[in-house]
Amino acid sequence: MTDQLIVFDTTLRDGEQSPGASMTRDEKVRIARALERMRVDVIEAGFPIASPGDFEAVRAVARAVKDSTVCGLARALDKDIDRAGEALREANSGRIHTFIATSPIHMEQKLRMSPDQVLEQAVRAVRHARQYTDNVEFSPEDAGRSEIDFLCRVLEAVIDAGAGTVNIPDTVGYNVPEQFGNLISTLRERVPNSDQAVFSVHCHNDLGLAVANSLSAVMNGARQVECTINGLGERAGNAALEEIVMTVKTRQDIFPCSVDHIDTTQIVTASKLVSGITGFAVQPNKAIVGANAFAHESGIHQDGVLKSRETYEIMRAEDVGWTANRMVLGKHSGRNAFRTRLAELGVEFASEEELNDAFSRFKDLADKKHEIYDEDLQALVTESNIEAENEFVRLLFLSVCSQSGETPEASITLRVNGDERQSKAAGGGPVDAAFRAIESIVASGTELLLYSVNNITTGTDSQGEVTVRLEKGGRIVNGQGADTDIVIASAKAYVNALNKLRAPVQREHPQTADV
Ligand code: KIV
Ligand code: ZN
Repeated sequence: MTDQLIVFDTTLRDGEQSPGASMTRDEKVRIARALERMRVDVIEAGFPIASPGDFEAVRAVARAVKDSTVCGLARALDKDIDRAGEALREANSGRIHTFIATSPIHMEQKLRMSPDQVLEQAVRAVRHARQYTDNVEFSPEDAGRSEIDFLCRVLEAVIDAGAGTVNIPDTVGYNVPEQFGNLISTLRERVPNSDQAVFSVHCHNDLGLAVANSLSAVMNGARQVECTINGLGERAGNAALEEIVMTVKTRQDIFPCSVDHIDTTQIVTASKLVSGITGFAVQPNKAIVGANAFAHESGIHQDGVLKSRETYEIMRAEDVGWTANRMVLGKHSGRNAFRTRLAELGVEFASEEELNDAFSRFKDLADKKHEIYDEDLQALVTESNIEAENEFVRLLFLSVCSQSGETPEASITLRVNGDERQSKAAGGGPVDAAFRAIESIVASGTELLLYSVNNITTGTDSQGEVTVRLEKGGRIVNGQGADTDIVIASAKAYVNALNKLRAPVQREHPQTADV
């Protein structure tokens, strides 16, 4: 019988460590539900000790998710593990993932601990975590640059202490596929009790090798892969879930394990949800989830595909959800259809008032756009959440005049901390004019790092989804806005980023030393 590959998604934890990608509790719950629908085995929901908000988010995901295991990250410290144990208390199936660095550079420079101290702390952490759950995972951080003899000693000791999963991270994305595969087979051979734990891998993409390294590890005995939707994650990101899953599925002729339990038709929806919430757009030529991934431009290819799909296609677009999940709502759809579809998408309303508010936005949108797709609904809910949170500035009115040969001008009305304020500004284009008008009121002192527009669905009546990345004092945030008018979507995104910058942040980063 073929083994099943355990798919461990860390979009909500490592993905969230990407600058500007932070998610609210409700956004995390929506993404977790999408992952559960995809039948992902383990969802790493966050790092509970990082802040009260992170703790609440892990707890909310643990409550909401029933079928996947929910995992919380903890450094190898009692206080971290206690917090993770508490956040996961109500999970149907919970896992504590504890870690400590094992590479010489991390032990000497970051932890300032000797190898023996690190080993002792790793064992103590696993034993402590076992008091909360039987499901404990241990990671020797920066394993990809650790000494093999020491790594073997640590893994043997933590498996003895009760770690059921040992995860081998290539924390800095330094490894290459053959070497990383060899590392996994060597560890499995040399660690005497290796048969008592599942070997997992967690690869970063600094050299663009995260997926290749993970798959090489699978060929060499790893049976869990840690990955993220769209490859989101620190720096260049993590291994992309969709690429791992579709490679193993498509190349069953060579892989020693299967991903048959994963509902791959949920991939595109999850990808759009994550990019809409984080504001990290997916490049058009990105494998599996890029808008061009299944588009055939050249005449020769089109001809081949029309005669026989297999000539140029190795997967079917519908197998990853490009055409599935296309339930269309419109102007005449009632509240019930609206509520039911959102419930299917994992969105529940806390009150009738919230439902009514979202439904009235839906009706406004349906007046402008004939067919409302799931992606539109997700954007609508993201926007309701955006407005509900930390609203210091609100866009009340925007009018832009733009005509050929004239300088565009924007007139804007904002509510700032309860006061209505108006202003006008000219700009290089209508969006520039709108942003200048906002700034003439708020004088935020921020720097615009990125401005991007994506159409949520196809067609010129599609909503434009805008991301605005602002920086102030070293802090980076992404603001989002969606509207059928892209200038209005842009102003909404700008205002959203300003509101996010005001929200307090006191989050600890998991990979800082605190021993
Ligand atoms: O990259 C890494 O080493 C991590 C660990 C916490 C698993 O994210
Ligand atoms: Zn990582």
